[in-house]
Amino acid sequence: LDAAREALERLSRVIPDFPSPGISFRDLTPVFADGPALRAVTDALLEPFAGRYDVIAGVEARGFVLAASAAYASGRGVVMIRKPGKLPRAVLSEDYDLEYGSATLQVHDDELPKGTRVLLIDDVLATGGTLAASCSLIERAGWTVAGIGVVLELSALAGANKLPGRDIQSLQVV
Ligand code: PRP
Ligand code: MG
Repeated sequence: LDAAREALERLSRVIPDFPSPGISFRDLTPVFADGPALRAVTDALLEPFAGRYDVIAGVEARGFVLAASAAYASGRGVVMIRKPGKLPRAVLSEDYDLEYGSATLQVHDDELPKGTRVLLIDDVLATGGTLAASCSLIERAGWTVAGIGVVLELSALAGANKLPGRDIQSLQVV
């Protein structure tokens, strides 16, 4: 965990006025691009949940990087939670609110048996809408949410309030 936190401090960047004026964007791409940093972050995401999950779910797009890395490190598979219109077979869909407008996430619900324990991974917990919708999809599919691992939690947005009762582990809280 110390190695992961050190890597995040050293490599993540704050980009002012992106994607729009007044927003400070926290850019994790340099963390993803650094081999030891990606490995340290991946290991730290998995560690609190050892022995408690059967598969990793990642949220398109940035969550896929972390989910694939975590899946390989743990010998598990990946469930892809995708933006609409990308999955070719029957899907479950969940709509959720953004600050302005709304969004949808989808999953194939027939890839895993009922009761499968899913560890949900994403890069950032902001308003919590993305992860709350993802939890709904996992449970509607008949699986359970073993926990939620995120690299960065933006505490001012209080996203954890949208995830009551969930075991959320954040490597960095700002
Ligand atoms: C970003 C980020 C999280 C989400 C968090 O995804 O990667 O998935 O926002 O926001 P929330 O807690 O307010 O829901 P986004 O879809 O913007 O971009 P991406 O496709 O690059 O992951
Ligand atoms: Mg995302």
